[in-house]
Amino acid sequence: MSRIVYVNGAYLPEEEAKISVFDRGFLFADGVYEVSSVLRRKLIDNSGHLARLHRSLNELDMAAPASDAEIAAIQNALIEKNNVEEGLVYLQVTRGAADRDFAYPEGARPSLVMFTQQKNVVDSPNARTGIAIISVDDIRWRRRDIKSVGLLAPCMAKMQAKSAGADDAWLVEDGYVTEGSSNNAFIVNAEGALVTRQLGNEILAGITRKAVLKLAREQQMKIEQRPFSIEEACNASEAFITSATTFVMPVISIDGTPVADGKPGRLTRRLRELYIQTALESVGER
Ligand code: PDD
Repeated sequence: MSRIVYVNGAYLPEEEAKISVFDRGFLFADGVYEVSSVLRRKLIDNSGHLARLHRSLNELDMAAPASDAEIAAIQNALIEKNNVEEGLVYLQVTRGAADRDFAYPEGARPSLVMFTQQKNVVDSPNARTGIAIISVDDIRWRRRDIKSVGLLAPCMAKMQAKSAGADDAWLVEDGYVTEGSSNNAFIVNAEGALVTRQLGNEILAGITRKAVLKLAREQQMKIEQRPFSIEEACNASEAFITSATTFVMPVISIDGTPVADGKPGRLTRRLRELYIQTALESVGER
């Protein structure tokens, strides 16, 4: 079924939506994006996503295409127009269309594109069984704190995982896991401490990561924000990933080695439950 999407001021059937061939998002991946999840027709953690959008835009000297209130109004209009009970809203801002030139053009109008996708985020089969991941070299650029649409390296990582019969990949740089191909990586060590890499240019500051760390703190869990290796992860008692589209997703094997007994871990399941509960509370359910 055709969706209604948003392109630069217009709500259109997806077949009719158009972007210039000179759009710098298309030519240079000169754009940034955000993905917000939708539960019960409401956006989850959207203010965090919009704050990070501004940070990405600032880092690239790119103008905001609209105010936060306007962006949120468009996101909500798309949820309504497309009857999205559960899923996500994708939003992308590019520097706009101009003659091809590496230097940023002066006065280009930023493009704003948004669309929705239906997805079972809460009741996902992967969340019940857990996922298998492999480790791959992190070949991405060095500004992973910017949520750029230059995503070919993660596409390649996901394809490597798929070819290996796994579900996703963790990226490794200088012997340590940076993050997942499109998510943040966590382990629980033998002492029960939650370990995830500290923020920096090496990883994206996940909005779900932040929410999960807050929940873990409230549960008096010990938290260590530091790099960890694949070897440490293989010997961990639990592992999981976080993102707007997976929430908290158990990892049950790494490069073919089962994590503990190869089943979703207790703390992982608890954090997933708490995350969903908090998200539902934030939209006025429960
Ligand atoms: N990806 N790290 C990377 C490299 C990501 O691409 C993402 C999100 C995250 C998690 O961030 P958050 O919790 O704010 O979703 C971490 C989105 C979901 C995507 O590209 O589809």
